[in-house]
Amino acid sequence: MRHILVTNAKGGCGKSTIATNLAAYYASEGYETTLADYDPQASSLSWLDERPEDKATITGLAAFDDGLRHMPRSTEYLIIDAPARSHGPELTALVNHADTIIVPVLPSPIDMKAGAEFIAELLKKGKIANKKAKVAAVANRVKENTLIFEELDAYLEHLKVPYIAILREAQNYIRAYQRGLGIHELPPYLAWPDWEQWDPLIGWLDSRRSRPR
Ligand SMILES: Nc1ncnc2c1ncn2[C@@H]1O[C@H](COP(=O)(O)OP(=O)(O)O)[C@@H](O)[C@H]1O
Ligand SMILES: [Mg+2]
Repeated sequence: MRHILVTNAKGGCGKSTIATNLAAYYASEGYETTLADYDPQASSLSWLDERPEDKATITGLAAFDDGLRHMPRSTEYLIIDAPARSHGPELTALVNHADTIIVPVLPSPIDMKAGAEFIAELLKKGKIANKKAKVAAVANRVKENTLIFEELDAYLEHLKVPYIAILREAQNYIRAYQRGLGIHELPPYLAWPDWEQWDPLIGWLDSRRSRPR
């Protein structure tokens, strides 16, 4: 079973967006998928409420209330959506549930600084220091050909974790969220540029590089 945590202390960087899209992707690939929402705001569970009945089933867990107790044993992919402001023991507990951790970062100076500090905090957690969990960054809501994009590129290169994808800012994410879908479930003519940007992320998750030894 894969345990994938999407986390960053900053709100609004795309944790729920990436978590719901990952859940939809793996479910639509035929895997038993569980989406555990640790955020009391429950954005992932609200998304799941909108999910059409004819789409691949995803089990939602109100993990902010009762953890992973009700997780189906048959789960193949567990996707964990973290709340904002996770630090200290709460963050350690979340990390202990994961073997792979994705940190979304927005291309703004404030978010990039906070993101680097958050990643530094993550890298000190015993589980990660001991290579029992792998971490990677994803740049999210990126507008290409902007000044900050160049800075973002240099910044990502210097992080002590790999950066595995750059996701653009696109209406598709908002459209998909409202309909309980992932971007991989939108029509290709709309979503192909986003599928291309997700390929390296999915490729990394499918590779050994994202798994602890
Ligand atoms: N790549 C993107 N393109 C456009 N809007 C996005 C993108 N990623 C996230 N958003 C929007 O940004 C807001 C915050 O994203 P969300 O996933 O809820 O962040 P978090 O869970 O980290 O607080 C939401 O309104 C979401 O729809
Ligand atoms: Mg969220």
